[in-house]
Amino acid sequence: MGCSESDYAYLRELVLEESANRIDPSRNALFDTRLKPIARLAGAKGLKDFVNILKADRAPHLHRAVAEAMTINETSFFRDLKSFEMLRETILPRLIEQRRDERRLRIWSAASSTGQEAYSVAMLIAEHLPELAGWDVKIIGTDISRYVIDYAQRARYRRLEVNRGLPVRMLLKYMAHDGEEWEISPRIRAMCEFQYANLCAPLPKLPVFDLVMLRNVLLYFPPRDRSYLFGDVHRQMAPDGCLILGNAEQAEDSSDLFEVEFASNSYCYRPVVAGV
Ligand SMILES: C[S@@+](CC[C@H](N)C(=O)[O-])C[C@H]1O[C@@H](n2cnc3c(N)ncnc32)[C@H](O)[C@@H]1O
Repeated sequence: MGCSESDYAYLRELVLEESANRIDPSRNALFDTRLKPIARLAGAKGLKDFVNILKADRAPHLHRAVAEAMTINETSFFRDLKSFEMLRETILPRLIEQRRDERRLRIWSAASSTGQEAYSVAMLIAEHLPELAGWDVKIIGTDISRYVIDYAQRARYRRLEVNRGLPVRMLLKYMAHDGEEWEISPRIRAMCEFQYANLCAPLPKLPVFDLVMLRNVLLYFPPRDRSYLFGDVHRQMAPDGCLILGNAEQAEDSSDLFEVEFASNSYCYRPVVAGV
């Protein structure tokens, strides 16, 4: 395939506009590989031709497809173990205390990719927090890529994927071997739902969340989109809820909305409540 620098610049700008993802020019070659199937479907002879179609047609579904195809979906079970230890030792026990009367918890895996994050939280709850049995607990995973949402809903993983981060004991307890794949057990699946949401556009109707995991996605966003997103996340959270970011991410440019809390050798963010 291949196209001119100005065509790549057009594609980078399109992705930024659609998904807030910044793509460094050093990664231009990624457009060639990732956009090949979409370009072919659109009837283009090559990437250059596809860019011309995108410019001429401005078809929203094609623009969205480009942004989705360029997402980085890297994830694994129990990624950044320290965050899960903090969940188990501090955050979830505190939420159990706070929600003792309602017996209801809503957890958001924002940018859930192929679902390992949401299923890890569900397994952690099943394994370590028996007090939550009988509660109304839902973990809602959202992502901009329809491909990863379908993947998460399918709840089936290859050996390579389950070998990354999932302790064997949990694998055997919460997944069933089926041919070449492992399938998440119905009990864990029942706690998780997945749906489309673009974090840099108006959010769909979602519940108020007690816990938000917004991990390893902010790093792709420019500062302006990060700060809009922190505003949206703050509005979507219970005032006594908790936000967890990825290891390399911080909410320091939104200190008016969130304050950092150190817990269990890690840290999370608590909403700043107006007037308090
Ligand atoms: C690197 S993965 C992180 C997955 C998981 N949170 C984790 O930490 O392992 C980033 C995910 O963010 C999604 N993403 C990127 N831009 C997004 C946007 N604007 N709205 C929603 N999801 C987005 C990508 O599709 C991808 O699945």
